[in-house]
Amino acid sequence: MTSPNDSSPRTYPDGSDAFPHHNLLDIAGLQPWEIEYLLDEAEQWVDLNRQSSKHDDRLAGLTVINAFFENSTRTLLSFEIAGKRLGADVVNMHAAQSSIKKGETLIDTAVTLNAMRADAIVIRHGSSGAVQLIADKVDCPVLNAGDGSHEHPTQALLDGLTIRRRKGNISGQTVTICGDILHSRVARSNIICLRTLGAIVRVVGPPSLLPAAIKELDVEVYTDFDAALKGCDVAMMLRLQNERMQGQFIPSPTEYHHLYGLTEERLEKAGGDILVMHPGPMNRGVEIVSSIADDPERSTITEQVEMGVAMRMACLDILTRRSRNVEGWT
Ligand code: CP
Repeated sequence: MTSPNDSSPRTYPDGSDAFPHHNLLDIAGLQPWEIEYLLDEAEQWVDLNRQSSKHDDRLAGLTVINAFFENSTRTLLSFEIAGKRLGADVVNMHAAQSSIKKGETLIDTAVTLNAMRADAIVIRHGSSGAVQLIADKVDCPVLNAGDGSHEHPTQALLDGLTIRRRKGNISGQTVTICGDILHSRVARSNIICLRTLGAIVRVVGPPSLLPAAIKELDVEVYTDFDAALKGCDVAMMLRLQNERMQGQFIPSPTEYHHLYGLTEERLEKAGGDILVMHPGPMNRGVEIVSSIADDPERSTITEQVEMGVAMRMACLDILTRRSRNVEGWT
């Protein structure tokens, strides 16, 4: 992992541009200054999105396909809104209504989308690595909207943007990620993103929901939620990813809430000014109580959704600059 304190310039020695990647498949492949560049670029879209007229036409004439093989509210809609606000023609493909249901393979689906000359394809898939498989078969940039328990890079970027705006910076912050770390692509992308930018990351959850190799991601590991919360700056709560669980990982949601639910008592006991985050969708009364989730002073849950649109606008803009022949991006 590159040192977060690396003060490398944002251009490469050969003078090439700040973001040399064709796709956005994971956070693991990004340098610290590349992540910061993406966050910086999103700021302009936060400003635009707060105006009554939210339109920019830089993607006019381009086609963006959102191919979602798993359910989504936030990611699908924010990519759709992002593309439309930038002037692109946006088409959504829902797997349930597609020819996947007739037995068409993922690779044949990718080849079909490619033949339609999309200018960017956004993919969510239930299998880790499926987005990479599609990216290898198409010409245009591919953006990973979440693949299995592997990565959800734009979620980590929007979370990073939220933390940076609320706390001033990411480096030096202590972030506690609580819940189903084992099945969570959000946890994985956030751990890599936050560590790359110099945050201290604690993970906490039942032993059954902590990956055996979690220490390889350079995090502090806890099973006691109160201990993990004490002294942290940010608490990132995750839901139980029941759709990815095969078998029983916790005794019951009630038991889980007792040990790992974020409650008023627990937050008060931890002390300090802890910012509470959740990528959504949340299960009220399980990993978080409503009084905290709905308090905009302490919780950033709706702000994260707002940052998601801006962040995805930045990603679509940056990844299509080469095909749009933007000066300096050849
Ligand atoms: N956070 C997130 O990915 O939410 P959706 O599943 O609603 O897209």
